[in-house]
Amino acid sequence: METMESDMGGTMKTSANNNPLGIFDSGVGGVSVLRWVRRLLPREDLIYVSDAGYAPYGNRSPHYVEERAIRMSRFLLDQGAKAVVVACNTATVTSIATLRSLFAVPFIGIEPGVKPALAVTASGVVGVLATTETLKSPSFHTLINRFGKGVRVEVQGCPGLMEQVESLAFTAPKTRDLLDRYLTPLLEKGADTIVLGCTHYPFLAPLIREMAGDEIRIIDTGEAVSRQVCRTLATRNLLTCSRGPGAVTFWTSGSRGVETVLSSLWEEAVTVKQIP
Ligand code: DGL
Repeated sequence: METMESDMGGTMKTSANNNPLGIFDSGVGGVSVLRWVRRLLPREDLIYVSDAGYAPYGNRSPHYVEERAIRMSRFLLDQGAKAVVVACNTATVTSIATLRSLFAVPFIGIEPGVKPALAVTASGVVGVLATTETLKSPSFHTLINRFGKGVRVEVQGCPGLMEQVESLAFTAPKTRDLLDRYLTPLLEKGADTIVLGCTHYPFLAPLIREMAGDEIRIIDTGEAVSRQVCRTLATRNLLTCSRGPGAVTFWTSGSRGVETVLSSLWEEAVTVKQIP
């Protein structure tokens, strides 16, 4: 039997590789990552947590986001998670170093895809849509300094956009107005590549394409992160031995309404349990 270190420094008695993989976000945005994880690792049991009761994260202090990220991680570890995917750019840039220092399981985060954007921009101008907290964070600035050489990276905070996704208002007039306000300045500055720097925004990709035109390149790092999840589990010998399809369990700190939204985004009726 394999064992793994718990966050308290002890060892779990269960077979570590058949434990579930935990995934969290401030809301339903992380489903844009979850669907890739499910596609690439169909036999893994997955636990998804939407911290909707404490969302949005994107306009909160780093301290607030870090506190929530620790709570969400602790909850997932209590459910036996063998690894945690931080399916939230804001939580990753503010908290992943702390999470890795506090807990023994692997943490895989998501950051705005500046590096892949460089590989595809023809105009040399890359636009990043993200939460204000992500754009302010030192980690994001490190990312730009590391990979943004030789191109211009224009950034745009997007207050209100995650809420439109949380209410499934993908093409509502208010969503169009907000996107117009956020996208137009980037396009006017010559951006031909738009980085979706928040996991909620892939659900708006069709509208972004409609508004920005077919030529625009849209960078969503959900697939790349999921491939990193596969590599991490494989390297640590944590891939499940199970042969059947894994179960997907949903939890939230928010209201009952989250169930309708998650069912719609997951494209099947799901039951969402309440975090005690
Ligand atoms: N989905 C989150 C992200 O990737 C943030 C949304 C929010 O809570 O503001 O940054």
